[in-house]
Amino acid sequence: MGISLHSQCFFCFICILLIFCITNGFTHHAYSQCLEDQRTLLLELKNDLIFNSTLSRKLVLWNQTQDCCTWNGVECDGTGHVISLQLDGEGISGGIHNSSSLSGLRYLKRLNLADNDFGGVQIPEGILNLKNLTHLDLSNACFGGQVPIEVSLMRRLVNLDLSSFFSNYVLKVESPNLKMLLQNLTGLRELYLDGVNISAQGSEWCQAISSSLPELRILSLCGCSLSVSNFFANFSYLTTLSLSGCGLNSIPQSLFSLPSLKTLILSDNRLSGRLYEFPTLQFSNIVELDLSDNRLEGQIPESFFTLERLEFLILSQNFFNGTVPLEKFQRLQYLGVLDLSYNNLFVDTSITDTSLSMFPQLYVLGLASCNLDKFPDLINQHKLVYLDLSNNRITGEVPNWIWEIGNGTLYSLNLSSNLLVGLQKPYHIPSSLRILDVHSNLLHGELPPVPLYAYYIDYSHNNFEKSIPLNIGNSTTKLLYLSLANNSLSGAIPTSFCNATLLKVLDMSANKLSGTIPPCLVQNLKQLGNYLERSLPVSLANCKSLRVLNVGNNNIDDGFPCMLASSLRVLVLRSNRFHGQVRCSRSWSNLQIIDIASNNFSGYLYTKSFSGMMLEKHARLESDYIHYNSSILFSDQYYAAKVIIKGVELEFEKILTTFTVIDFSCNNFQGEIPDAIGDLSSLQVLNLSHNTFAGTIPKSLGNLTQLGSLDLSTNQLRGEIPKELTCLTFLGALNLSNNQLIGPIPSGPQLQTFSTDSFQGNTGLCGFPLNISCRHTGENDNVPPPNSYRKDEAINWDYVSVALGYVVGLGSIFWLLFFCRSFKHKFNDQTEHVFEKVFNPKGRRKRHRGRVTRRC
Ligand SMILES: *[C@@H]1O[C@H](CO)[C@@H](O)[C@H](O)[C@H]1NC(C)=O
Ligand SMILES: *[C@@H]1O[C@H](CO)[C@@H](O)[C@H](O)[C@H]1NC(C)=O
Ligand SMILES: *[C@@H]1O[C@H](CO)[C@@H](O)[C@H](O)[C@H]1NC(C)=O
Ligand SMILES: *[C@@H]1O[C@H](CO)[C@@H](O)[C@H](O)[C@H]1NC(C)=O
Ligand SMILES: *[C@@H]1O[C@H](CO)[C@@H](O)[C@H](O)[C@H]1NC(C)=O
Ligand SMILES: *[C@@H]1O[C@H](CO)[C@@H](O)[C@H](O)[C@H]1NC(C)=O
Ligand SMILES: *[C@@H]1O[C@H](CO)[C@@H](O)[C@H](O)[C@H]1NC(C)=O
Ligand SMILES: *[C@@H]1O[C@H](CO)[C@@H](O)[C@H](O)[C@H]1NC(C)=O
Ligand SMILES: *[C@@H]1O[C@H](CO)[C@@H](O)[C@H](O)[C@H]1NC(C)=O
Ligand SMILES: *[C@@H]1O[C@H](CO)[C@@H](O)[C@H](O)[C@H]1NC(C)=O
Ligand SMILES: *[C@@H]1O[C@H](CO)[C@@H](O)[C@H](O)[C@H]1NC(C)=O
Ligand SMILES: *[C@@H]1O[C@H](CO)[C@@H](O)[C@H](O)[C@H]1NC(C)=O
Repeated sequence: MGISLHSQCFFCFICILLIFCITNGFTHHAYSQCLEDQRTLLLELKNDLIFNSTLSRKLVLWNQTQDCCTWNGVECDGTGHVISLQLDGEGISGGIHNSSSLSGLRYLKRLNLADNDFGGVQIPEGILNLKNLTHLDLSNACFGGQVPIEVSLMRRLVNLDLSSFFSNYVLKVESPNLKMLLQNLTGLRELYLDGVNISAQGSEWCQAISSSLPELRILSLCGCSLSVSNFFANFSYLTTLSLSGCGLNSIPQSLFSLPSLKTLILSDNRLSGRLYEFPTLQFSNIVELDLSDNRLEGQIPESFFTLERLEFLILSQNFFNGTVPLEKFQRLQYLGVLDLSYNNLFVDTSITDTSLSMFPQLYVLGLASCNLDKFPDLINQHKLVYLDLSNNRITGEVPNWIWEIGNGTLYSLNLSSNLLVGLQKPYHIPSSLRILDVHSNLLHGELPPVPLYAYYIDYSHNNFEKSIPLNIGNSTTKLLYLSLANNSLSGAIPTSFCNATLLKVLDMSANKLSGTIPPCLVQNLKQLGNYLERSLPVSLANCKSLRVLNVGNNNIDDGFPCMLASSLRVLVLRSNRFHGQVRCSRSWSNLQIIDIASNNFSGYLYTKSFSGMMLEKHARLESDYIHYNSSILFSDQYYAAKVIIKGVELEFEKILTTFTVIDFSCNNFQGEIPDAIGDLSSLQVLNLSHNTFAGTIPKSLGNLTQLGSLDLSTNQLRGEIPKELTCLTFLGALNLSNNQLIGPIPSGPQLQTFSTDSFQGNTGLCGFPLNISCRHTGENDNVPPPNSYRKDEAINWDYVSVALGYVVGLGSIFWLLFFCRSFKHKFNDQTEHVFEKVFNPKGRRKRHRGRVTRRC
C-alpha cells in the first residue's frame, strides 16, 4: 500500500520509550567472608524494605547462598563487617521505619539511600543511630519534615548530602536550626543542602556554617533562598561554592577573596546590574567560574582577564554587552571551557597573531548568539570537542577545515540558525561526531552523510534536495534523533532506516517524499499516514504506551481525541481544525504538556474534566533525576565525559523531569476560567489568550508557584487583577492585555517588573507600570519608584524564565525541548542522557526573544 507523503503532511513518530536497564555492575572490593550476623541483618533489612523489584538492581539480586560481602551495593571491611551500603535508586518506598536491622549495622561508614521515595517521612531513627557514618547521602529520597537533631551527633560525618529537588516533600531546618545541627560536625568537608528549606535570618546561616565547619571544602546550597554575606571570608578551606538557583541578588566581593576557592558557581540566580571591577581578583585562585543565567549587564569586567588560572568560564545567558575581542581570552592560557553565548556581546574573532594556537587547552567553546558574521579561525584548536556557533549571522560555506578541528575528535558541532549556504567540498565528517546540528540555514545540495556513531542529527529547515541516500540507515545504528524536516527532499524513504533500531524521533515532515513507509517503522504509522488529512485514527487507542502525540500544523478536522491512552505525556494538536468541546470521561494523570492552540475548540472548560486532565491534585511530582554515569555513556570518549561533567551542564546529575504546559490559546473557549486551575501545582506555562473567557481572573492562579509564563490576553476578563498574582515569583512573562480589567495593578516587586505592554488595552487599570495613577484608592502610592526595578523592562518579558532557570520560548525548539522532557521519565535509560545533553545543556538553552504574544 502506497502512502504519499506530501509536504505539509507532517507525520510524527510516536516514540515509545524503551526501557533500558543499565546494569550498574557495582563492584565490590573486599574479599573477606561475610559474618553471619551481618548477613542476617542485611536479609532482615531487605525483608523490611518495601521496594519495587522492577526498579531494583541490587536488593533484588541479593542471594542468600552467596557471600553477603559480594552482594551488589554491599561492601565489607577485612573482618567481614559491612562498612558500606549503597542502595540508591532501588525503588524503595517504605519499610525503613519498621526496620531495626539498619541500626544493627554498627560498622557502617557509608550509607547511600539517594533517589528512592520514602514518601515524605522524617529521617528515621534507624539511620540516625548510625553514629559511625562518615558519608551519608539521602539526596532525592523524599524524606521530609525537620532534619532531626540526632544528625548533630553523627560527629564523624565528612560528607552529608540532604539535597532534594522539586520533591513534593521538603526537608526543613528550622528548629533545631542550622547552627545547632552543624556546630559539632566539625569534620564536615562536603555539605549539600540543595533545595532544603533553611529558615535563617539574613546571613545567620553563613555565620553558622563558617564558624562551625572549618574544614568545609564543598558547600552547595542551590535553591535554598538564602542571602549571602561577607561571612564567607572565614571559609579558609572552601574550594567549591555552589549557590546556583538561590535567588541571589548581589555578588558579594568577599567571595572572590576566599583563599582556597577554586570553583564558584552562581548560575541561575537573579544576579543583576553591572559587574564592576574586582580589585582582589588577581590574587584569586579561581579555576572555575560560572555566572550563567543571570541578569548581569554591562561589559565583562577587565579583572576577569587577570584570572590566570581560570580553566572554566561560563558567562552565557546574561545581558553582557559591548565588543569583546576573543584574543583577549588568550591571556587565560589554561582555559578549557569558554561560553559567552546568549548575551548582547559582539565577539570579535579576528586574530592578529596567527602563529600560535589561540587556546592550547580549550575543549568547549560556546559562541552562540554572539553576532559573528564569519567563522572564527579555529584550525589550530586541537583539543576542541564541543563547538557552538549557532544563532549568528555567519554567511557562505561551511569551511571544510571545521571537520578537522580537534584533530579528529570533534564531538558536538552546532551551526544552526545562521546564513550558511553550503558545505565546502571535499569534506569529511569525522566519525567522532555525535551531535551535529545545522538546522535553519540555507544549505542546499545533497544531504550530507550521517556520521557513523552520531546520536543526534538535525538537518531540518534547509534546502537540501534530491533523495535521501538509500544506505542512510547503515550508519544510523546509534542514532536517536534525526530530523530532515522542511527541506526539498524527494523520492522514497529508504528501508535502511530499519537498521536504526534506537531511533526515537524521525521527522521527515515538509518534504516531497513519496512511496511507502518501511514496515519496520512504527506499525501504527500506516494508519496515521492514511488518516492524517481527515481525522486521527481510532486505532491510536491501541497504543497503550503512547507517550507523545504531536500532530501539530496539519489539517485535521476532528474532535478532541478522548481515546488516547492514559500513558500520554505530551499532546500537541496545535494549528489544525479540531473542534467541539474538550470534555472526556477519562483523564490523563501523566500529561505534562497539552498544546491545543489555534484550533476551533469551543465551549466551557469543565472544572471536572479539566482538573482531571492534567496532573491530579495530589499527583506526585515527578522528581526523578537522571544520574549521569560517565563510564556507562561515554566510556570511549574521555573528552565527552569531561565536557559534560565540567562544561556544559554543571547540574547534570540532578535534573527535573516535570514540565507542565497548557496552551489553549486561539480557540473559542468561553465562560470562566475554572478555579480548579489553581490545583495544577506544577504548571509552568499557561496560555489561554485569544479566546472569549469571561469573568474574573481566578485567585487560585496565585497557587501556581512554579508558573513562569502567564498569558490571558485578548479575552473578556473583568474585575481587578487578584493580588494573589504577586505570589508568582518565578513569573518571567505576563500578558493580561486586551481584557476589561479594572483597578490598581497589585503592588509588590513581581508585577511591576513587566512593561506596560503586559497591561495595555484594559481601560480601567491603573498604577505602575501604567502611566495612570490610581487617584482614589491610594493603594499604589507606596510602589517603589521604577528605577528600583530593572531598568530594562522590555527585556524582562522578552523571554520566559521559569522555575530555576528553565528557559523556554515559543516556536519549534520549544516543542523539541518539551518533547525531550517526556523522555526523561524515571527510566535510567542511557539514551536520555543524550537527550538531556542535546536539549537542555544548561549553557545552551535558548533565550527566546520572541514576544509572548502570538497572533492567531
Ligand atoms: C515498579 O516500577 C515499574 C517501572 O517504573 C512500574 O511500571 C511499576 O508500576 C512499579 N510497581 C509498583 C508496584 O509500583
Ligand atoms: C543463588 O546463588 C546460587 C549459587 O551461586 C545459584 O545456584 C542460585 O541460582 C542463585 N539464586 C538466584 C535466585 O539467583
Ligand atoms: C511501620 O512504621 C509505621 C511508621 O512508624 C507505622 O505507622 C506502621 O504501623 C508500622 N508497620 C508495622 C507493620 O509495624
Ligand atoms: C562504631 O564502630 C565501632 C567499630 O569501629 C564499634 O565498636 C562501635 O560500636 C560503633 N559505634 C556505634 C555507636 O555503633
Ligand atoms: C555539641 O557538643 C557540645 C560539647 O560536646 C555539647 O555541649 C553540645 O550539646 C553539642 N551540641 C549539639 C547540638 O549536639
Ligand atoms: C519554608 O518554611 C517556611 C516556614 O516553615 C514556610 O513558610 C515556607 O513556605 C517554606 N518554603 C517552602 C519552599 O517550602
Ligand atoms: C571571622 O574571622 C574573624 C577574624 O579571624 C573573626 O573575628 C570573626 O569573628 C569570624 N567570624 C565568624 C562568623 O566566625
Ligand atoms: C551596555 O549596557 C549598559 C547598561 O547595562 C549601557 O549603559 C551601555 O550603554 C551598553 N553599552 C553598549 C555598547 O551597548
Ligand atoms: C593529531 O592526532 C594524531 C593521531 O592521533 C597525532 O599523532 C598528532 O600528534 C595529533 N596532532 C596534534 C597537533 O595534536
Ligand atoms: C548499506 O546499505 C545498502 C542499501 O541498503 C546495502 O546494499 C549495503 O550492503 C549496506 N552496507 C554498506 C557497508 O554500505
Ligand atoms: C542494515 O545494515 C547492514 C549492514 O550495514 C546492511 O547489510 C543491510 O542491508 C541493512 N539493512 C537494510 C534494510 O538496509
Ligand atoms: C491555595 O492552596 C491552598 C492550599 O492548598 C488552599 O487552602 C487555598 O484555598 C488555595 N487558594 C486558592 C485561592 O485557591
